[in-house]
Amino acid sequence: MTRIPFGRFVIAGILVVASAVVLRSHLVAAQQAAAPVTFTKHVAPILQQKCQVCHQPDSIAPMSLLTYDDAKKYARLMKERTASRLMPPWYIDKSVGIQHFKNDRSLTDAEIDTFSRWLAAGTPLGDPKDAPPASSAPADPSQWEFAKQYGKPDLVLKSPPYTLAARTQDKWFRPTTDTGLTEPRWVRAIEIRPATSDGRKIVHHVLTLLQQQETGVTNLAESAHHMQTSAGLFMEWAVGKTGEVFNADAGKLMLPGSKINWEIHMFAIGREMKDNQVELGIYFYPKGTVPPHRTVLKMFDVSRGSELDIPPNSTAMTQNFYVMQAPGRIENFQPHMHMRGKAMSMEAIYPDGKREMLSVVNNFQWRWHVNYIYADDTAPLLPKGTTLAFTAWHDNTTNNPNNPDPRQWVGWGDRTVDEMAHAWVDVTYLEPEELDKMIADRKAKAATKTPPTVGFVRPVAPGTVIR
Ligand code: HEC
Repeated sequence: MTRIPFGRFVIAGILVVASAVVLRSHLVAAQQAAAPVTFTKHVAPILQQKCQVCHQPDSIAPMSLLTYDDAKKYARLMKERTASRLMPPWYIDKSVGIQHFKNDRSLTDAEIDTFSRWLAAGTPLGDPKDAPPASSAPADPSQWEFAKQYGKPDLVLKSPPYTLAARTQDKWFRPTTDTGLTEPRWVRAIEIRPATSDGRKIVHHVLTLLQQQETGVTNLAESAHHMQTSAGLFMEWAVGKTGEVFNADAGKLMLPGSKINWEIHMFAIGREMKDNQVELGIYFYPKGTVPPHRTVLKMFDVSRGSELDIPPNSTAMTQNFYVMQAPGRIENFQPHMHMRGKAMSMEAIYPDGKREMLSVVNNFQWRWHVNYIYADDTAPLLPKGTTLAFTAWHDNTTNNPNNPDPRQWVGWGDRTVDEMAHAWVDVTYLEPEELDKMIADRKAKAATKTPPTVGFVRPVAPGTVIR
Protein backbone atom coordinates (compact mmCIF):
# COMPACT_ATOMS: atom_id res chain seq x y z
CA MET A 1 0.00 0.00 0.00
CA THR A 2 1.35 3.43 -0.92
CA ARG A 3 1.79 5.64 2.03
CA ILE A 4 0.09 8.96 1.58
CA PRO A 5 1.82 11.68 3.54
CA PHE A 6 -0.31 13.36 6.21
CA GLY A 7 -0.22 16.72 4.38
CA ARG A 8 -1.93 15.22 1.37
CA PHE A 9 -4.74 13.94 3.60
CA VAL A 10 -5.32 17.45 4.80
CA ILE A 11 -5.40 18.82 1.28
CA ALA A 12 -7.65 16.02 0.11
CA GLY A 13 -9.89 16.66 3.12
CA ILE A 14 -10.15 20.34 2.31
CA LEU A 15 -10.96 19.49 -1.28
CA VAL A 16 -13.70 17.10 -0.19
CA VAL A 17 -15.19 19.69 2.15
CA ALA A 18 -14.85 22.38 -0.51
CA SER A 19 -16.55 20.30 -3.17
CA ALA A 20 -19.29 19.36 -0.70
CA VAL A 21 -19.89 23.08 -0.13
CA VAL A 22 -19.97 23.72 -3.88
CA LEU A 23 -22.28 20.76 -4.38
CA ARG A 24 -24.56 21.96 -1.61
CA SER A 25 -24.87 25.44 -3.05
CA HIS A 26 -25.64 23.89 -6.44
CA LEU A 27 -28.30 21.79 -4.79
CA VAL A 28 -29.83 24.79 -3.04
CA ALA A 29 -29.92 26.67 -6.35
CA ALA A 30 -31.49 23.69 -8.08
CA GLN A 31 -34.06 23.30 -5.32
CA GLN A 32 -34.91 26.99 -5.54
CA ALA A 33 -35.32 26.71 -9.28
CA ALA A 34 -37.50 23.67 -8.83
CA ALA A 35 -39.49 25.11 -5.91
CA PRO A 36 -42.87 25.93 -7.38
CA VAL A 37 -43.70 29.54 -7.83
CA THR A 38 -46.88 30.18 -5.86
CA PHE A 39 -49.52 32.85 -6.08
CA THR A 40 -49.32 34.04 -2.48
CA LYS A 41 -45.53 34.15 -2.25
CA HIS A 42 -44.40 35.25 -5.71
CA VAL A 43 -47.22 36.41 -7.98
CA ALA A 44 -49.42 38.43 -5.59
CA PRO A 45 -46.66 40.92 -4.62
CA ILE A 46 -45.96 41.69 -8.29
CA LEU A 47 -49.65 42.17 -9.02
CA GLN A 48 -49.97 44.52 -6.05
CA GLN A 49 -46.99 46.63 -6.97
CA LYS A 50 -47.14 46.68 -10.75
CA CYS A 51 -50.62 45.81 -12.01
CA GLN A 52 -53.55 46.41 -9.66
CA VAL A 53 -53.57 50.19 -9.81
CA CYS A 54 -55.14 49.68 -13.25
CA HIS A 55 -56.41 46.11 -12.93
CA GLN A 56 -59.15 46.58 -10.32
CA PRO A 57 -62.85 47.43 -10.60
CA ASP A 58 -63.46 51.05 -11.70
CA SER A 59 -59.93 51.55 -12.92
CA ILE A 60 -58.85 51.67 -16.56
CA ALA A 61 -58.05 48.01 -17.38
CA PRO A 62 -60.68 45.67 -18.84
CA MET A 63 -60.31 43.07 -16.06
CA SER A 64 -59.50 42.94 -12.36
CA LEU A 65 -56.42 41.09 -11.11
CA LEU A 66 -57.14 41.41 -7.38
CA THR A 67 -57.78 37.80 -6.40
CA TYR A 68 -56.24 34.38 -6.91
CA ASP A 69 -59.19 33.35 -9.09
CA ASP A 70 -58.76 36.41 -11.34
CA ALA A 71 -55.06 35.76 -11.72
CA LYS A 72 -55.55 32.07 -12.40
CA LYS A 73 -58.06 32.82 -15.15
CA TYR A 74 -55.63 35.18 -16.88
CA ALA A 75 -52.40 33.30 -16.14
CA ARG A 76 -51.64 32.50 -19.80
CA LEU A 77 -52.51 35.99 -21.03
CA MET A 78 -50.45 37.55 -18.23
CA LYS A 79 -47.46 35.44 -19.21
CA GLU A 80 -47.81 36.44 -22.87
CA ARG A 81 -48.34 40.16 -22.26
CA THR A 82 -45.49 40.42 -19.78
CA ALA A 83 -43.05 38.34 -21.85
CA SER A 84 -43.71 40.52 -24.92
CA ARG A 85 -43.35 43.57 -22.65
CA LEU A 86 -46.76 44.90 -23.64
CA MET A 87 -47.77 44.96 -19.95
CA PRO A 88 -47.25 46.94 -17.82
CA PRO A 89 -47.18 49.80 -20.33
CA TRP A 90 -43.50 50.81 -20.60
CA TYR A 91 -42.02 50.72 -24.06
CA ILE A 92 -38.48 52.01 -23.65
CA ASP A 93 -35.72 49.94 -25.25
CA LYS A 94 -33.93 48.50 -22.23
CA SER A 95 -30.73 47.79 -24.13
CA VAL A 96 -29.78 51.36 -24.97
CA GLY A 97 -29.90 54.84 -23.47
CA ILE A 98 -30.83 56.14 -20.03
CA GLN A 99 -32.56 53.56 -17.82
CA HIS A 100 -33.31 55.42 -14.59
CA PHE A 101 -36.68 57.11 -14.48
CA LYS A 102 -38.89 58.61 -11.77
CA ASN A 103 -41.94 56.67 -12.91
CA ASP A 104 -40.60 53.31 -14.11
CA ARG A 105 -43.35 50.70 -13.79
CA SER A 106 -41.70 48.00 -15.92
CA LEU A 107 -41.01 44.46 -14.74
CA THR A 108 -37.57 42.99 -14.12
CA ASP A 109 -36.56 39.89 -16.09
CA ALA A 110 -37.03 37.84 -12.90
CA GLU A 111 -40.58 39.15 -12.48
CA ILE A 112 -41.42 38.28 -16.09
CA ASP A 113 -39.97 34.83 -15.48
CA THR A 114 -42.20 34.44 -12.40
CA PHE A 115 -45.35 34.68 -14.55
CA SER A 116 -44.15 31.95 -16.91
CA ARG A 117 -42.93 29.67 -14.10
CA TRP A 118 -46.19 30.08 -12.25
CA LEU A 119 -48.12 29.02 -15.34
CA ALA A 120 -45.73 26.09 -15.94
CA ALA A 121 -46.19 24.97 -12.32
CA GLY A 122 -49.97 24.80 -12.82
CA THR A 123 -50.84 28.14 -11.12
CA PRO A 124 -50.61 26.89 -7.48
CA LEU A 125 -52.09 29.06 -4.71
CA GLY A 126 -49.39 28.35 -2.13
CA ASP A 127 -49.49 28.98 1.59
CA PRO A 128 -51.99 31.72 2.55
CA LYS A 129 -49.49 32.79 5.25
CA ASP A 130 -47.12 33.91 2.45
CA ALA A 131 -49.60 36.47 1.10
CA PRO A 132 -48.33 40.06 1.10
CA PRO A 133 -49.77 42.29 3.85
CA ALA A 134 -52.77 44.43 3.09
CA SER A 135 -50.68 47.53 3.79
CA SER A 136 -49.07 47.04 0.40
CA ALA A 137 -52.49 46.97 -1.26
CA PRO A 138 -52.84 48.78 -4.59
CA ALA A 139 -53.54 52.45 -4.95
CA ASP A 140 -57.15 53.54 -5.10
CA PRO A 141 -57.86 54.36 -8.77
CA SER A 142 -60.05 57.31 -7.85
CA GLN A 143 -57.08 58.97 -6.14
CA TRP A 144 -54.77 61.31 -7.98
CA GLU A 145 -51.55 59.44 -8.83
CA PHE A 146 -49.15 61.98 -7.40
CA ALA A 147 -51.15 62.29 -4.15
CA LYS A 148 -48.81 59.64 -2.72
CA GLN A 149 -45.91 62.08 -3.00
CA TYR A 150 -47.56 65.45 -2.51
CA GLY A 151 -50.95 64.90 -0.88
CA LYS A 152 -54.10 66.01 -2.72
CA PRO A 153 -53.70 68.51 -5.60
CA ASP A 154 -53.80 72.09 -4.29
CA LEU A 155 -55.95 73.22 -7.20
CA VAL A 156 -58.33 71.17 -9.34
CA LEU A 157 -59.80 72.76 -12.47
CA LYS A 158 -62.54 71.15 -14.55
CA SER A 159 -63.35 71.74 -18.19
CA PRO A 160 -67.01 72.65 -18.87
CA PRO A 161 -69.23 69.59 -19.58
CA TYR A 162 -69.46 68.41 -23.20
CA THR A 163 -71.81 65.79 -24.61
CA LEU A 164 -70.44 63.65 -27.43
CA ALA A 165 -72.92 61.97 -29.79
CA ALA A 166 -72.84 58.19 -30.25
CA ARG A 167 -71.74 58.50 -33.88
CA THR A 168 -69.89 61.54 -35.14
CA GLN A 169 -66.57 62.73 -36.53
CA ASP A 170 -63.71 63.28 -34.06
CA LYS A 171 -64.38 66.46 -32.03
CA TRP A 172 -62.07 69.15 -30.64
CA PHE A 173 -63.52 71.15 -27.76
CA ARG A 174 -61.66 74.40 -26.90
CA PRO A 175 -63.12 76.15 -23.82
CA THR A 176 -61.36 78.57 -21.44
CA THR A 177 -61.43 78.38 -17.62
CA ASP A 178 -60.28 80.90 -15.00
CA THR A 179 -57.72 79.54 -12.53
CA GLY A 180 -59.02 81.83 -9.78
CA LEU A 181 -55.48 82.50 -8.50
CA THR A 182 -54.96 85.72 -6.58
CA GLU A 183 -51.22 85.40 -6.01
CA PRO A 184 -48.29 83.91 -7.96
CA ARG A 185 -47.68 80.20 -7.30
CA TRP A 186 -44.96 77.83 -8.50
CA VAL A 187 -46.09 74.41 -9.70
CA ARG A 188 -44.13 71.25 -8.94
CA ALA A 189 -46.37 68.62 -10.52
CA ILE A 190 -49.43 68.46 -12.78
CA GLU A 191 -51.89 65.70 -13.62
CA ILE A 192 -54.66 65.57 -16.18
CA ARG A 193 -57.40 62.97 -16.35
CA PRO A 194 -60.85 62.50 -17.82
CA ALA A 195 -63.20 62.93 -14.84
CA THR A 196 -65.02 59.60 -15.26
CA SER A 197 -64.20 56.10 -16.48
CA ASP A 198 -66.60 56.70 -19.39
CA GLY A 199 -64.64 59.82 -20.22
CA ARG A 200 -61.49 57.73 -20.47
CA LYS A 201 -63.04 55.81 -23.34
CA ILE A 202 -63.51 58.83 -25.59
CA VAL A 203 -60.77 61.36 -24.76
CA HIS A 204 -57.71 60.89 -26.96
CA HIS A 205 -55.68 63.89 -25.87
CA VAL A 206 -55.87 67.14 -23.92
CA LEU A 207 -53.73 70.22 -24.33
CA THR A 208 -53.74 72.92 -21.69
CA LEU A 209 -52.29 76.33 -22.39
CA LEU A 210 -51.57 78.77 -19.60
CA GLN A 211 -52.63 82.24 -20.57
CA GLN A 212 -51.45 85.09 -18.34
CA GLN A 213 -49.97 88.57 -18.25
CA GLU A 214 -46.25 87.90 -17.79
CA THR A 215 -45.21 90.77 -15.56
CA GLY A 216 -42.71 90.69 -12.72
CA VAL A 217 -41.38 87.24 -13.62
CA THR A 218 -38.01 86.50 -12.07
CA ASN A 219 -35.66 83.50 -12.00
CA LEU A 220 -35.23 83.07 -15.72
CA ALA A 221 -31.87 81.87 -17.02
CA GLU A 222 -30.34 84.98 -18.63
CA SER A 223 -28.80 82.90 -21.41
CA ALA A 224 -32.17 81.65 -22.56
CA HIS A 225 -34.40 84.50 -21.52
CA HIS A 226 -36.34 84.79 -24.75
CA MET A 227 -37.21 81.09 -24.64
CA GLN A 228 -38.84 81.28 -21.24
CA THR A 229 -40.79 84.48 -21.21
CA SER A 230 -44.16 83.08 -22.11
CA ALA A 231 -46.19 80.70 -19.99
CA GLY A 232 -47.14 78.74 -23.10
CA LEU A 233 -48.10 75.11 -22.89
CA PHE A 234 -48.95 74.01 -19.40
CA MET A 235 -49.35 70.30 -19.90
CA GLU A 236 -50.18 67.80 -22.62
CA TRP A 237 -52.09 64.63 -21.83
CA ALA A 238 -52.90 61.65 -24.02
CA VAL A 239 -54.39 58.24 -23.29
CA GLY A 240 -52.17 56.29 -20.93
CA LYS A 241 -50.30 59.26 -19.47
CA THR A 242 -50.43 60.46 -15.89
CA GLY A 243 -48.63 63.76 -15.63
CA GLU A 244 -45.53 65.85 -15.19
CA VAL A 245 -43.29 66.04 -12.14
CA PHE A 246 -40.71 68.79 -12.20
CA ASN A 247 -37.21 68.51 -10.88
CA ALA A 248 -36.92 69.72 -7.25
CA ASP A 249 -35.16 72.90 -8.44
CA ALA A 250 -37.66 73.81 -11.16
CA GLY A 251 -41.31 74.32 -11.94
CA LYS A 252 -43.99 76.33 -13.73
CA LEU A 253 -45.19 79.73 -12.67
CA MET A 254 -48.88 80.58 -12.49
CA LEU A 255 -49.85 84.22 -12.05
CA PRO A 256 -52.95 85.95 -10.63
CA GLY A 257 -55.71 86.31 -13.19
CA SER A 258 -54.40 83.42 -15.29
CA LYS A 259 -56.63 81.26 -17.47
CA ILE A 260 -56.39 77.76 -18.90
CA ASN A 261 -57.20 77.27 -22.58
CA TRP A 262 -58.18 73.66 -23.15
CA GLU A 263 -58.07 71.58 -26.30
CA ILE A 264 -59.88 68.27 -25.78
CA HIS A 265 -59.82 65.74 -28.62
CA MET A 266 -62.64 63.18 -28.42
CA PHE A 267 -63.68 60.27 -30.62
CA ALA A 268 -67.12 58.65 -30.68
CA ILE A 269 -67.52 55.03 -29.61
CA GLY A 270 -71.13 54.27 -30.61
CA ARG A 271 -72.70 55.34 -27.30
CA GLU A 272 -73.72 58.88 -26.33
CA MET A 273 -71.37 60.27 -23.66
CA LYS A 274 -73.14 62.88 -21.55
CA ASP A 275 -71.47 65.81 -19.80
CA ASN A 276 -67.92 64.66 -20.33
CA GLN A 277 -65.34 66.65 -18.32
CA VAL A 278 -61.58 66.67 -17.96
CA GLU A 279 -59.78 67.48 -14.68
CA LEU A 280 -56.49 69.27 -14.22
CA GLY A 281 -54.82 68.62 -10.85
CA ILE A 282 -52.11 71.10 -9.85
CA TYR A 283 -49.59 70.61 -7.03
CA PHE A 284 -47.91 73.79 -5.80
CA TYR A 285 -44.61 74.30 -4.05
CA PRO A 286 -45.25 75.64 -0.53
CA LYS A 287 -46.25 79.31 -0.49
CA GLY A 288 -43.26 81.58 -0.90
CA THR A 289 -41.04 78.86 -2.37
CA VAL A 290 -39.50 80.06 -5.60
CA PRO A 291 -37.57 77.32 -7.41
CA PRO A 292 -34.49 78.66 -9.22
CA HIS A 293 -35.61 77.50 -12.67
CA ARG A 294 -38.63 77.69 -14.92
CA THR A 295 -39.27 74.56 -16.98
CA VAL A 296 -40.78 74.95 -20.43
CA LEU A 297 -42.76 72.29 -22.29
CA LYS A 298 -41.60 71.94 -25.88
CA MET A 299 -43.11 70.09 -28.78
CA PHE A 300 -40.29 68.84 -30.97
CA ASP A 301 -41.74 68.09 -34.37
CA VAL A 302 -40.10 65.05 -35.96
CA SER A 303 -42.06 64.59 -39.19
CA ARG A 304 -41.28 68.10 -40.47
CA GLY A 305 -44.80 69.41 -40.27
CA SER A 306 -47.13 67.93 -42.80
CA GLU A 307 -44.42 66.19 -44.84
CA LEU A 308 -45.35 62.70 -43.64
CA ASP A 309 -45.89 60.44 -46.63
CA ILE A 310 -46.56 56.79 -45.83
CA PRO A 311 -47.63 54.75 -48.88
CA PRO A 312 -49.79 51.64 -48.41
CA ASN A 313 -47.94 48.53 -47.22
CA SER A 314 -44.75 50.37 -46.42
CA THR A 315 -42.69 51.77 -43.59
CA ALA A 316 -41.40 55.32 -43.25
CA MET A 317 -38.64 57.07 -41.31
CA THR A 318 -38.53 60.80 -40.58
CA GLN A 319 -35.95 62.90 -38.74
CA ASN A 320 -35.58 66.38 -37.40
CA PHE A 321 -32.81 68.28 -35.60
CA TYR A 322 -32.79 71.07 -33.01
CA VAL A 323 -29.78 73.01 -31.77
CA MET A 324 -29.87 74.01 -28.08
CA GLN A 325 -29.72 77.82 -28.06
CA ALA A 326 -28.75 77.79 -24.37
CA PRO A 327 -27.54 75.15 -21.91
CA GLY A 328 -30.37 73.01 -20.58
CA ARG A 329 -31.54 69.95 -18.75
CA ILE A 330 -33.90 67.53 -20.51
CA GLU A 331 -36.47 66.31 -17.99
CA ASN A 332 -38.39 63.66 -19.93
CA PHE A 333 -39.14 62.01 -23.27
CA GLN A 334 -42.66 61.40 -24.55
CA PRO A 335 -43.13 60.34 -28.17
CA HIS A 336 -46.47 61.14 -29.81
CA MET A 337 -47.64 59.20 -32.85
CA HIS A 338 -50.85 57.44 -33.86
CA MET A 339 -51.83 53.93 -34.96
CA ARG A 340 -48.96 53.42 -37.42
CA GLY A 341 -46.34 54.73 -34.96
CA LYS A 342 -43.65 52.14 -34.36
CA ALA A 343 -40.59 53.73 -32.72
CA MET A 344 -38.96 57.04 -31.85
CA SER A 345 -35.52 57.96 -30.57
CA MET A 346 -33.88 61.07 -29.10
CA GLU A 347 -30.13 61.46 -29.49
CA ALA A 348 -27.73 64.18 -28.35
CA ILE A 349 -24.88 65.27 -30.61
CA TYR A 350 -22.63 67.33 -28.37
CA PRO A 351 -20.73 70.39 -29.64
CA ASP A 352 -17.51 68.30 -29.62
CA GLY A 353 -19.10 65.73 -31.95
CA LYS A 354 -19.71 63.05 -29.33
CA ARG A 355 -23.03 61.28 -29.90
CA GLU A 356 -25.19 59.81 -27.17
CA MET A 357 -28.45 57.95 -27.63
CA LEU A 358 -30.60 59.30 -24.80
CA SER A 359 -33.75 57.19 -25.22
CA VAL A 360 -35.43 54.88 -27.69
CA VAL A 361 -39.05 53.82 -27.52
CA ASN A 362 -38.82 50.76 -29.77
CA ASN A 363 -42.26 49.28 -29.24
CA PHE A 364 -44.54 52.31 -29.41
CA GLN A 365 -48.22 51.64 -28.59
CA TRP A 366 -50.51 54.47 -29.62
CA ARG A 367 -52.97 53.81 -26.78
CA TRP A 368 -50.20 54.36 -24.25
CA HIS A 369 -48.66 57.79 -24.27
CA VAL A 370 -46.17 57.08 -21.56
CA ASN A 371 -44.15 60.03 -20.31
CA TYR A 372 -40.67 58.74 -19.45
CA ILE A 373 -39.49 61.10 -16.66
CA TYR A 374 -35.74 60.94 -16.07
CA ALA A 375 -34.44 60.45 -12.53
CA ASP A 376 -32.75 63.52 -10.99
CA ASP A 377 -29.27 62.12 -11.57
CA THR A 378 -29.84 60.89 -15.13
CA ALA A 379 -31.70 63.80 -16.79
CA PRO A 380 -29.42 64.80 -19.70
CA LEU A 381 -27.36 67.97 -19.13
CA LEU A 382 -26.69 69.57 -22.50
CA PRO A 383 -24.37 72.47 -23.28
CA LYS A 384 -25.39 75.23 -25.66
CA GLY A 385 -24.89 74.09 -29.26
CA THR A 386 -25.87 70.46 -28.61
CA THR A 387 -28.05 69.07 -31.40
CA LEU A 388 -31.07 67.04 -30.39
CA ALA A 389 -31.70 64.52 -33.17
CA PHE A 390 -35.14 62.89 -33.26
CA THR A 391 -35.99 59.90 -35.46
CA ALA A 392 -39.47 58.43 -35.91
CA TRP A 393 -40.53 55.21 -37.63
CA HIS A 394 -44.02 54.39 -38.89
CA ASP A 395 -45.17 50.96 -39.98
CA ASN A 396 -48.11 50.83 -42.38
CA THR A 397 -47.79 47.11 -43.12
CA THR A 398 -49.55 44.04 -41.78
CA ASN A 399 -46.59 43.53 -39.41
CA ASN A 400 -48.06 46.28 -37.24
CA PRO A 401 -50.85 44.72 -35.15
CA ASN A 402 -52.29 48.20 -34.45
CA ASN A 403 -52.69 49.02 -38.15
CA PRO A 404 -56.41 49.35 -39.03
CA ASP A 405 -55.84 49.16 -42.80
CA PRO A 406 -52.47 48.76 -44.57
CA ARG A 407 -54.07 49.48 -47.97
CA GLN A 408 -54.48 53.17 -47.08
CA TRP A 409 -52.05 55.96 -47.89
CA VAL A 410 -51.39 57.81 -44.63
CA GLY A 411 -50.33 61.42 -44.19
CA TRP A 412 -50.19 64.02 -41.43
CA GLY A 413 -53.52 64.73 -39.74
CA ASP A 414 -55.35 65.17 -36.47
CA ARG A 415 -57.49 62.02 -36.50
CA THR A 416 -56.05 58.85 -34.94
CA VAL A 417 -56.17 57.18 -38.37
CA ASP A 418 -53.93 59.98 -39.69
CA GLU A 419 -50.37 60.24 -38.51
CA MET A 420 -48.13 62.56 -36.55
CA ALA A 421 -44.67 62.37 -35.07
CA HIS A 422 -43.47 64.69 -32.35
CA ALA A 423 -41.94 64.47 -28.91
CA TRP A 424 -43.15 66.30 -25.81
CA VAL A 425 -40.14 67.31 -23.78
CA ASP A 426 -39.76 69.54 -20.72
CA VAL A 427 -36.62 71.63 -20.95
CA THR A 428 -35.09 73.53 -18.03
CA TYR A 429 -32.75 76.19 -19.38
CA LEU A 430 -29.68 76.93 -17.27
CA GLU A 431 -26.84 79.44 -17.04
CA PRO A 432 -23.56 77.97 -18.39
CA GLU A 433 -22.04 78.01 -14.88
CA GLU A 434 -25.04 76.17 -13.45
CA LEU A 435 -24.71 73.47 -16.09
CA ASP A 436 -20.97 73.10 -15.38
CA LYS A 437 -21.68 72.80 -11.67
CA MET A 438 -24.40 70.19 -12.17
CA ILE A 439 -22.09 68.13 -14.38
CA ALA A 440 -19.26 68.41 -11.82
CA ASP A 441 -21.62 67.47 -8.93
CA ARG A 442 -22.82 64.42 -10.80
CA LYS A 443 -19.28 63.31 -11.55
CA ALA A 444 -18.29 63.74 -7.90
CA LYS A 445 -21.32 61.77 -6.75
CA ALA A 446 -20.63 58.96 -9.22
CA ALA A 447 -17.00 58.79 -8.04
CA THR A 448 -17.98 58.30 -4.38
CA LYS A 449 -20.40 55.50 -5.17
CA THR A 450 -19.01 52.07 -4.29
CA PRO A 451 -18.99 49.82 -7.33
CA PRO A 452 -21.68 47.14 -7.22
CA THR A 453 -20.54 43.86 -5.74
CA VAL A 454 -21.02 41.00 -8.14
CA GLY A 455 -21.47 37.69 -6.36
CA PHE A 456 -19.49 35.16 -8.27
CA VAL A 457 -16.96 37.18 -10.24
CA ARG A 458 -13.65 37.64 -8.46
CA PRO A 459 -10.79 39.73 -9.75
CA VAL A 460 -8.03 37.64 -11.32
CA ALA A 461 -4.54 38.56 -12.45
CA PRO A 462 -4.11 38.73 -16.22
CA GLY A 463 -3.10 35.38 -17.69
CA THR A 464 -4.70 33.33 -14.89
CA VAL A 465 -6.37 30.21 -16.21
CA ILE A 466 -9.86 29.97 -14.76
CA ARG A 467 -11.20 26.43 -14.42
C1 HEC B 1 -51.27 51.78 -16.26
C2 HEC B 1 -52.31 50.82 -16.19
C3 HEC B 1 -51.97 49.35 -16.30
C4 HEC B 1 -50.99 48.65 -15.63
C5 HEC B 1 -50.00 49.19 -14.61
C6 HEC B 1 -51.10 47.30 -16.07
N1 HEC B 1 -52.10 47.16 -16.98
FE1 HEC B 1 -52.61 45.47 -18.00
N2 HEC B 1 -53.95 46.53 -19.10
C7 HEC B 1 -54.30 47.84 -18.91
C8 HEC B 1 -55.29 48.22 -19.92
C9 HEC B 1 -55.94 49.59 -20.04
C10 HEC B 1 -55.49 47.11 -20.73
C11 HEC B 1 -56.40 47.01 -21.97
C12 HEC B 1 -55.80 47.75 -23.14
C13 HEC B 1 -54.48 47.20 -23.59
O1 HEC B 1 -54.35 45.97 -23.77
O2 HEC B 1 -53.55 47.99 -23.77
C14 HEC B 1 -54.64 46.06 -20.20
C15 HEC B 1 -54.57 44.78 -20.72
C16 HEC B 1 -53.91 43.72 -20.10
C17 HEC B 1 -53.99 42.33 -20.54
C18 HEC B 1 -54.76 41.84 -21.76
C19 HEC B 1 -56.20 41.66 -21.44
C20 HEC B 1 -56.97 41.15 -22.64
O3 HEC B 1 -58.07 40.63 -22.41
O4 HEC B 1 -56.50 41.27 -23.77
C21 HEC B 1 -53.24 41.60 -19.66
C22 HEC B 1 -53.05 40.09 -19.67
C23 HEC B 1 -52.69 42.51 -18.69
N3 HEC B 1 -53.12 43.78 -18.98
C24 HEC B 1 -51.89 42.15 -17.65
C25 HEC B 1 -51.20 43.05 -16.83
C26 HEC B 1 -50.24 42.66 -15.83
C27 HEC B 1 -49.85 41.23 -15.49
C28 HEC B 1 -49.78 43.82 -15.28
C29 HEC B 1 -48.71 43.97 -14.22
C30 HEC B 1 -47.53 43.20 -14.34
C31 HEC B 1 -50.47 44.92 -15.92
N4 HEC B 1 -51.33 44.41 -16.86
C32 HEC B 1 -50.28 46.26 -15.60
C33 HEC B 1 -53.77 48.69 -17.95
C34 HEC B 1 -52.67 48.39 -17.14
